This record gives sequence, C-alpha cells and structure tokens, in this order.
Amino acid sequence: MAFIENWLTTIRTRTVAFIAIILAVAVTAVSCAGGTPEASAPAGIDPSKVADYIHTVLEADRTAYTKHVISRAKVLEGKEKEAGVLDVEATEGWQQTDGIPLPAQMFRLGSEIANEAGYFTYNLISEWYINDNHAPKGDFEETALATMTETGEAVKDYQEIGGQKYYSAMYPDIAVAEACATCHNTHPVHLERYPDKVFEVNDVMGGVVINIPLGDA
Ligand code: HEC
Repeated sequence: MAFIENWLTTIRTRTVAFIAIILAVAVTAVSCAGGTPEASAPAGIDPSKVADYIHTVLEADRTAYTKHVISRAKVLEGKEKEAGVLDVEATEGWQQTDGIPLPAQMFRLGSEIANEAGYFTYNLISEWYINDNHAPKGDFEETALATMTETGEAVKDYQEIGGQKYYSAMYPDIAVAEACATCHNTHPVHLERYPDKVFEVNDVMGGVVINIPLGDA
C-alpha cells in the first residue's frame, strides 16, 4: 500500500508542476500579446506562400505516382515497357479495361475530391486541352495561361468571382520527358483539335492553377 501511496504522491506533484508550467506559458503569451499593436495583429501566412506549399505537395504526389506506379506498369497506352514489373496497363480508358489511370487523370481524380472540401480548388489546365474540364475559365486563367506559356514563369494575382475574392496562382506544367510530348501529339483528340500544335521536350504544356478564397479583407 505504501508503494501505491508514494506513487500517487509522485503523480500529484508532477501534475501540479506541469499545470504551473502551462499557466506560466499562458501568462507570458497573454502579456506579450498585449504589447505593441504589431504583436497583437493576427499572424497570417502570405497567400503566395500557401499556394507554393499546395503546389509542392501536388507536384510531389504526381511525380511519385509517375515514378513509382506508372513506371512499374508493363504497358503504357498499348506500348510494352521492358522494365515494367506489374501486369497492368496505364491507360486513359482504365475504367473500361481494369487498368490504372494516367498521371493527369490521377491528378484530376484527386482534385475532384479535394475541391469538394471547399477550402480551395485546383486544376490542371491547358490551351491545348484533351479533356474539356481542362479548358481555361475566366479572365485570370486565360490571361495567366497565355503569359505563363510564353515566359515559362508562374503567374500569381488576386481576382474576384461573383463577389468572392481569391488569390490565384498558376504554375507551368512542362514536358519533362519525351513521353509527355509524344503521347499528347499522337492523341486522337489533340490531332483533331490542334493539328498544328506539336509539343517538344521542355515546352510548357499547360498549368496547375490554385484558387484560394480570401475573407472580406
Ligand atoms: C500516355 C499518354 C500521356 C502521357 C505520357 C502524358 N499525358 Fe498528359 N494527358 C493525357 C491525357 C489522356 C490527358 C487528359 C486526361 C483527363 O481526361 O483528365 C492529359 C492531360 C494533360 C494536361 C491537362 C490538359 C489536357 O490535355 O486535358 C496537361 C497539362 C498534361 N496532360 C501534361 C502532361 C505532361 C507535362 C506530361 C509528362 C510529364 C504528360 N502530360 C504525359 C495523356 C498523357
């Protein structure tokens, strides 16, 4: 019994010490916040940084999917891949053929789920879109896409849609591999819509656009 009592006393002493530390931290925080007006202003993150963070995650996921899933599939759009190890085809018609989605489709499937959450939206768009959902919408997207395609640089700006203010950022989507260009150049929809547009490696093929809704400010 003595052992249990000692043990309880130790716990009580430690709990009191812990609460004292918490209170000390809270009092320090309150007294600091009451100082200069700058110190009491709400700490916000620059929306440009937020967009950069979101874009980093989106790019990382797309690259990881391409590198670690697509490159292990035996067949990519009907073409055999020697280094493939999984008996599965990565193909646009994955739902009809029990295959797996292409990276751009995987990206869109993710964006459809994330956009439902209502915090912000993102999309992969292009002047030379295969999928109609990837057409530029509104002034910002059209202007930014044209500027970005020409300069290869990201474009960021504020815009207002239906009374709601947004911070929008568009990042170039580059043909980093030969496969990006050849698959698009030979796609039946591309050939029909943009017969004169031939992508080459390092071309800007489109852009990732992120729209972050802002408060009344
Ligand atoms: C095997 C074929 C294939 C490869 C390889 C491929 N794409 Fe695509 N890409 C597509 C298809 C099909 C779509 C439309 C997907 C959808 O329905 O959402 C698409 C969509 C896109 C879009 C959105 C605009 C549009 O056309 O709908 C961009 C931008 C894009 N791809 C860039 C790239 C880049 C950059 C690479 C290389 C890193 C790449 N693609 C590799 C087939 C391919």
